[in-house]
Amino acid sequence: MATSKLAVLALFALLGSVSCQAGGYYDYYYPTPQRPPTPSPAGTHLKVGYYRNKCAAAYVDVEAIVKKHVKATDAGMQAGLVRLFFHDCFVRGCDGSILLDTFSNDTSLTPEKFGVPNFPSLRGFEVIDAAKAEIEAACPGKVSCADIVAFAARDASYFLSAGGISFAMPAGRYDGTVSLASETLPNLPPPFAGFDQLVKMFGDKGLDASDMITLSGAHSIGRSHCSSFTRDRLPPSNTSDMDPAFAATLQAKCRSANAGTDNTVMQDFKSPDVLDNQYYKNVLAHKVLFTSDAALTTNFTSNNLVRAYADFVPYLWQQKFEKAMVKMGGIQLKTADNGEIRKTCRKVNNRT
Ligand code: HEM
Repeated sequence: MATSKLAVLALFALLGSVSCQAGGYYDYYYPTPQRPPTPSPAGTHLKVGYYRNKCAAAYVDVEAIVKKHVKATDAGMQAGLVRLFFHDCFVRGCDGSILLDTFSNDTSLTPEKFGVPNFPSLRGFEVIDAAKAEIEAACPGKVSCADIVAFAARDASYFLSAGGISFAMPAGRYDGTVSLASETLPNLPPPFAGFDQLVKMFGDKGLDASDMITLSGAHSIGRSHCSSFTRDRLPPSNTSDMDPAFAATLQAKCRSANAGTDNTVMQDFKSPDVLDNQYYKNVLAHKVLFTSDAALTTNFTSNNLVRAYADFVPYLWQQKFEKAMVKMGGIQLKTADNGEIRKTCRKVNNRT
């Protein structure tokens, strides 16, 4: 036991040194972000229990309101909420910019939510709206949409893991006022990314290879549209290492009765609605959807971490996932100086 613990520790030490080269092919489609991101150290000004005593009425429990709304949704929507947090944080930081219906007050520019990686697949917006409406009625002008997204992702992880993933989410984020579809492709990793590209794109946000491998475990829940993986992962593609029987099942599911319909399949064929370490077993069995999932075995150190996560049922991964979610929640934070507390999550506040 002592030897295996040492092996895991050595693994994490080694992960710090995983290489960070970008792939040239992807550079063509996914150019370097126009504004070099400035990752803030995780949780710079954030605090656990930030909203305690922030509302005029002392009985208002902001986090409990969010939790109630998340609990009332189904497993699919909860998966959507976990992804919403990731997509918010990777574009302009965790600032609720993913929620805006327009660029700011300029309706001629398309906002993030309509960017290629987000539309039409990203879901959970209505859950955030409902939580925000109840919070705003009880505690006006105090609670940011960015924090509601972070709490909702935390709570969704809790419900989808039957309480196995349970952690405090620090808060105090401010909402951004800018949201641009053009910033989504350069910042959100594509499903056909290889290992070096993934390390680079997470590295740009202040997250290391170990965080990337750990957070990818979220692909043990939710669904994917067929268009996200058929081209590079299913026959006649010859670059895919997917298990042939698994590929055949996916092909059958993706073959649409109605031409032009983009079907969906579950990401984890074994336990699709449970957030657990099954994902890593699927990666090792070559039964995962994306090139980016399969890529986790293409690097020696990463492959060892995938094995450790698959084997240590399931606590090692759960603990690392909790830490990585908090770390992701600290990307490029806004403050009162460059952000606001939006009144509604879909619109920036009116300027007078
Ligand atoms: C490592 C790079 C990643 C890539 C390339 C990637 C890509 C994708 C793609 C293409 C989909 C399917 C979208 C669709 O067609 O419907 C998806 C779904 C999903 N992703 Fe990721 N993702 C990555 C990392 C993450 C991370 C870090 C998280 C959260 C911590 C996450 C959470 C999810 C969830 C929960 C779903 C299912 C959403 C739903 O059912 O609505 N992903 N991802």
